[in-house]
Amino acid sequence: MAVLDIKGISKHFGAGVLAVDNLELTVGDGELVCLLGPSGSGKSTLLRMVGGFETPSGGSITIDGEEVIHLPPERRPTGMVFQSHALWTHMNVYKNIAFGLKLRRRPADEIKRRVDAVMELVGLAGYGERQTHQLSGGQQQRVALARSLVLEPKILLLDEPFASLDQHLRERLREEVRDIQQRLGITTLFVTHGQDEALSMADRIVVLRDGKVEQVAAPDVLYREPATPFVAGFIGTMNLIEGTVSNGTFSRAGFSSPLPVGDGPVTFAVRPEALVIAPAAGAGAAKIHRVTDYGTHAIVDLELPDGLRLKSMVPEARHWTTGQAVDLAPRAFSAYRDNALIYRSNAAR
Ligand SMILES: Nc1ncnc2c1ncn2[C@@H]1O[C@H](COP(=O)(O)OP(=O)(O)OP(=O)(O)O)[C@@H](O)[C@H]1O
Ligand SMILES: [Mg+2]
Repeated sequence: MAVLDIKGISKHFGAGVLAVDNLELTVGDGELVCLLGPSGSGKSTLLRMVGGFETPSGGSITIDGEEVIHLPPERRPTGMVFQSHALWTHMNVYKNIAFGLKLRRRPADEIKRRVDAVMELVGLAGYGERQTHQLSGGQQQRVALARSLVLEPKILLLDEPFASLDQHLRERLREEVRDIQQRLGITTLFVTHGQDEALSMADRIVVLRDGKVEQVAAPDVLYREPATPFVAGFIGTMNLIEGTVSNGTFSRAGFSSPLPVGDGPVTFAVRPEALVIAPAAGAGAAKIHRVTDYGTHAIVDLELPDGLRLKSMVPEARHWTTGQAVDLAPRAFSAYRDNALIYRSNAAR
């Protein structure tokens, strides 16, 4: 049982930077929560405050109801894998993993038992004598993970642990870590700026923007019901069209759509898979700028008369050519005003 409760946490760096701004977040027992956000949004700073590597300017962090803010990292029930992990190059794999237990003065036979078990768990059995420079990038990441897991933390903190790895290895390790996390039931806070990583791993995703929570939701909810244009644009691909509503019709350059909201400026949001195109008899709403064939589907890049680019997903590339005039029909869409969702079409629900 381990619940992480973050209340009103802020972090100022000097006078100018407010890296984390009065943030609230609860991570439930055994839950994996991803922190997702652009570079500089405060993800690492928040994680480092939970791990004890950064002192908050204000607020409270409790683990199972106990305040940890005044505890140094080694006295917190947390284990952290850093964004740029540094293994100890003068120690072999076994010693790297055992080091934290040695610091805690555990008996030798217990250390051996726990290190062997965790090496097995992360797929490093038999690698104990290897020097760290004799490992691949993926194996090094496993050592970094094992170093944290061996301490049996109540809360696991992972800061972009796979950032330096290639796509395939990243996907594999992602699945392995999720398996291990679920098997051990470790409450986990995971930082990434890869939305695929967040969507595929997380029980819930926290989208951070300028040190504040923009939205917290399960992956499918975040994808289908983004609460703000920022989240809509950040998760998956989204066409965001700034325009105006007048008498129940949204319009922007050649594009228009019925939209039953009051007159005024609106951000119209439609996913490429929901923006249907059809060959136009005349000038059409948009012109095709480029067609990219991905095999399973194709993406048609469109240009409105005022230069705004949109994307439409189609089943096959061969019906479409550059320069062709098309009409546009949004099948499912949302609308935002003043940074809040004001309308979602039936199909988008
Ligand atoms: N030690 C520091 N001194 C001053 N400013 C800092 C310090 N550490 C972080 N910052 C600033 O705080 C803000 C948040 O940084 P942070 O490292 O938390 O971002 P991040 O979301 O992890 O970004 P990235 O995705 O690039 O890792 C940034 O504006 C950063 O420049
Ligand atoms: Mg970071």
